Amino acid sequence: MNIQTDIVILGGGIAALQAARKLSTRFSVHVLTKANFTISSSYKAQGGIAAVISADDQFHSHINDTFIAGEHHHYEENVRTLVAQGSRYVKQLLQEGFPADYLENGQLSLGLEGAHSQKRIVHAGGDATGKHLIDYYIAHLPPSPRMTLHTYEFAYELILNTRGECCGVRVKTAQGQKTYYASYVILATGGAGALYSCTSNHAHSFGDGVALAYLAGAEVTDMEFVQFHPSLLYVNGACGLVSEAVRGAGGRFVDENNKPIMEGKHPLGDLAPRHITAYEMYQMRAAGKEVFLDISMIDNFEQKFPTITKLCQQHGVDIGIGKIPIAPGSHFLMGGVVATAQGETSIPRLLAIGEVACTGVHGANRLASNSLLEAITFGQLMAEHLLQTGTKQQHFNEALPLKKAMPSPSFTKQELQKAMLQTAGIVRHAEALETLSLQLSNTWQPVDFSNATQAQIELYFMHVTASLIVRGALLRTESRGAHIRQEYEQQTDWSKKWIVFQRGNVNVRNTLYEYNQIEINASTVL
Ligand code: SIN
Repeated sequence: MNIQTDIVILGGGIAALQAARKLSTRFSVHVLTKANFTISSSYKAQGGIAAVISADDQFHSHINDTFIAGEHHHYEENVRTLVAQGSRYVKQLLQEGFPADYLENGQLSLGLEGAHSQKRIVHAGGDATGKHLIDYYIAHLPPSPRMTLHTYEFAYELILNTRGECCGVRVKTAQGQKTYYASYVILATGGAGALYSCTSNHAHSFGDGVALAYLAGAEVTDMEFVQFHPSLLYVNGACGLVSEAVRGAGGRFVDENNKPIMEGKHPLGDLAPRHITAYEMYQMRAAGKEVFLDISMIDNFEQKFPTITKLCQQHGVDIGIGKIPIAPGSHFLMGGVVATAQGETSIPRLLAIGEVACTGVHGANRLASNSLLEAITFGQLMAEHLLQTGTKQQHFNEALPLKKAMPSPSFTKQELQKAMLQTAGIVRHAEALETLSLQLSNTWQPVDFSNATQAQIELYFMHVTASLIVRGALLRTESRGAHIRQEYEQQTDWSKKWIVFQRGNVNVRNTLYEYNQIEINASTVL
């Protein structure tokens, strides 16, 4: 089945829906998600939206906190855009009537999270901000005949025309296959947390969007920067997030003997940047000790954190005893498809927004609650840009797809997730990275996706995205932010150097943006 439209958006999270509701005022838009709109990392987001709203807060303070958390590996102009425009868009959302949490006196309730120097986190439903945002967007989509939402459609190949522009996407559905031809394809597919066996992400966040774009020839960068969150509920494995807002409300990391763990480790203590706290939890657990969040001092925990309370109940943890067992787990990909603040990638008419994109706003480690802000801000900016400048695609003469290769099935999904956690997790070492890199890329065979199942393609995508993470981690011979190399404890002159992958090549460069016109050849190998 073939469909011709103006815009296809891949993904069902906040960035996708923020863009869709704006774009459908002018364009015909098809939004495709591989699951449904309640199954995404956005929907699971407990933490809120960081934004300069309070009269006591200032842009430069939020910008500075972002730089410190990300250890100065940012594209600074985009950080300024994120903070300033983001504040405007969040205020608009509140004025529209988004049901955020308010205090009894009618003032917006602004929370504190790790590495923020101000209370600036907007929440909704306590710890259910992502769910409330998605529900709000879905309920308030403009009643436009131009917008169609599709669930359980899995995008497996971007289509490029002979001019090197993106002009569509092939998908698999329960009924078979579909091809969308479009003037623009927008990637809003989220992150890659599920490449690791311990994650806060949705179980199918395999980094599909990064793999799709990379296989089509787009630039991908900063893949070594994978954020680990220090507090996932841990009962025989990771069971979900215990938001940093719990520590913002007074919660503390403690050991088996209730001894505070972060005391003397960092001036911000329990609210230190995530790579610091996650590393401490990792060290403790590697030494065979259990770690907990002490929540005994938080009044009305159930009312303040209903999602976490339910999660604990589901896994047999009695919050009445005032302690939640935790472990660190993969949470956010700072890297991704190189994209401008307007979403433009190195492939014309292919755009990327949200976690799948790398605009350089998170540096080496994302500041808490900047991700929902990113989704809202860059979703909107990209949409405004297309509304002003978008043109119809006239060329649907397809280029031959790039030659792809299927990894040998030597890694099952579970094996790969385990290997990634062990080798490309919180602490990395060259020898193990090299071995894993070889295992991931030495056994590629030509493959035709049209006959492969979704599960086979997802496993393939996992190998592609994992391979980029591992190779990035191997190349960056320093420790910075979320990337910790055992043999290189310090930061070196790798500051503001971007490791950029494209079409089987890797470049280290001093700038995030350096677009080359892409020539499409029939047989470029991964
Ligand atoms: C959290 O609630 O701790 C997560 C928020 C975020 O990742 O920004």
